[in-house]
Amino acid sequence: MKREAVLIIDFGGQYNQLIARRVREHHVYCELKSYTVTLDEIRAFDPIGIIFTGGPGSVYAPGAPQVDPVIFDLGVPILGICYGCQLMAHHLGGQVTPAQDDAAREYGKTHTYFDTDCRLFRGLPAESVTWMSHGDYMARVPEGFSLAAHSDNCPNVAIADEARGFYGVQYHPEVNHTEYGAQMLKNFLYEVCGAHGTWTMGDYKKTAVAGLREKIGGGKVLLALSGGVDSSVAAALLAEAVGSQLTCVFVDHGLMRKDEGDEVEAAFAPWPVNFARVNAEKRFLDKLAGVTEPERKRKIIGEEFIRVFEEEAKKIGAVDYLVQGTIYPDVVESGTGDAAVIKSHHNVGGLPDYVDFKEIIEPLRLLFKDEVRQLGRELGLPEYLVTRQPFPGPGLAIRVIGDITKEKLDTLRQADYIFRDEVAKAHLEGTMDQYFAVLTNMRSVGVMGDGRTYDYTLALRSVTTSDFMTADWTRIPYEVLDAVSTRIVNEVPGINRIVYDITAKPPATVEWE
Ligand code: XMP
Repeated sequence: MKREAVLIIDFGGQYNQLIARRVREHHVYCELKSYTVTLDEIRAFDPIGIIFTGGPGSVYAPGAPQVDPVIFDLGVPILGICYGCQLMAHHLGGQVTPAQDDAAREYGKTHTYFDTDCRLFRGLPAESVTWMSHGDYMARVPEGFSLAAHSDNCPNVAIADEARGFYGVQYHPEVNHTEYGAQMLKNFLYEVCGAHGTWTMGDYKKTAVAGLREKIGGGKVLLALSGGVDSSVAAALLAEAVGSQLTCVFVDHGLMRKDEGDEVEAAFAPWPVNFARVNAEKRFLDKLAGVTEPERKRKIIGEEFIRVFEEEAKKIGAVDYLVQGTIYPDVVESGTGDAAVIKSHHNVGGLPDYVDFKEIIEPLRLLFKDEVRQLGRELGLPEYLVTRQPFPGPGLAIRVIGDITKEKLDTLRQADYIFRDEVAKAHLEGTMDQYFAVLTNMRSVGVMGDGRTYDYTLALRSVTTSDFMTADWTRIPYEVLDAVSTRIVNEVPGINRIVYDITAKPPATVEWE
């Protein structure tokens, strides 16, 4: 069967990555490319459909992102969203005007009425709520188009040219506030573009394994395994593809959570890979002894990590390929479109400079996080690894406030484990995106049995967030907090007081250091 791919042309809107995720959730492969993509590149990509995203500007603004109008002659269906809809109308002879104070300027949840005979809205309710965010609107609909949806304020919320497969919507189907947004996109993909839903992680695994085998041949491959989801799934994929040609270097810095190092090692037992676990706990703790300043801790750990990895790589000698676990949001956030570059991602900072290799392989660079997890399952990685919450590179060193000792790390590991255990028992994992314990450097007086104690205060932290750039603290039920507190104080020597961190980010950050 022909490869089915949808091209999403990025005009700089804030939800553009979400559009790509929604398309993939319908099992259709897609890629997000800047509006500067050329016609030749589009022809080479050979899409079954094209989506124009939203964007911040007005189609009439100087320097507004445009497309080559020949795109409308390619015979490929197009769905324009918000700015994309206005751009399509503008190019095809319609008229777009700033709504200004006009009632047609819309923002937020809007009651919308649909023509359910239109292919885009077939099978959907005739009335539902959509999420609008536009200042311009179409004063005149282009020739050949009919109106397919309206709201109380705006006569043309959606336009359709069924014959050519061109559709435009003023609302954002990709955000959750839009009811039936996912179904509308599905209609576009399946009814209009004729997709079959061939993009599954099972298929991806087969294709990726075959591709990697062909590329690598008999070459040697090296991978720095951190124990996080991305590097673990990348390692499993390579292990499946080339088995013993792969060496995974797992630097155990002694700053992992309880049992984590053993779990990672056990997960790779099914493959014949060379698994080099470097127990570098003493090295790291010696370097960190007496260091209290958070940034220095981070620097020391980063540098020591590279040093250990370099030493191991030298033992292995020259390799052909170095694997990195870069994923699609890293690629997109490093700048595909006109949107501002948010951050340039680095996995394990600076590694390639220190290792003798010919080429970098990034086998996950087209996958979203949820797809990476699914691929991990397809490869047979255990669920605890695949669903692992984010864990900072410097590990527990930035969760022990002040100076770090092995005793303090062990105390924290035990407390953190109890917190996670109680969250699991209460089935709350789905309500929190990251949750952990922090051992503060504050001691206070308590009473245990008949005796006075003077022990450390432990803080619990849990956040709910979609991007970790902003976060809210999780409203954990009191009974669960109570169970965690009681257990930790009873089971973990050295802790006599538990507090719960109720600060959002900003002004706080997720980690304490
Ligand atoms: P902050 O504390 O900056 O954390 O609000 C946001 C997210 O980033 C994680 N984090 C790190 N991840 N290396 C990492 O790989 C680091 O040095 C690091 N510092 C923070 C943090 O756990 C949270 O998910």
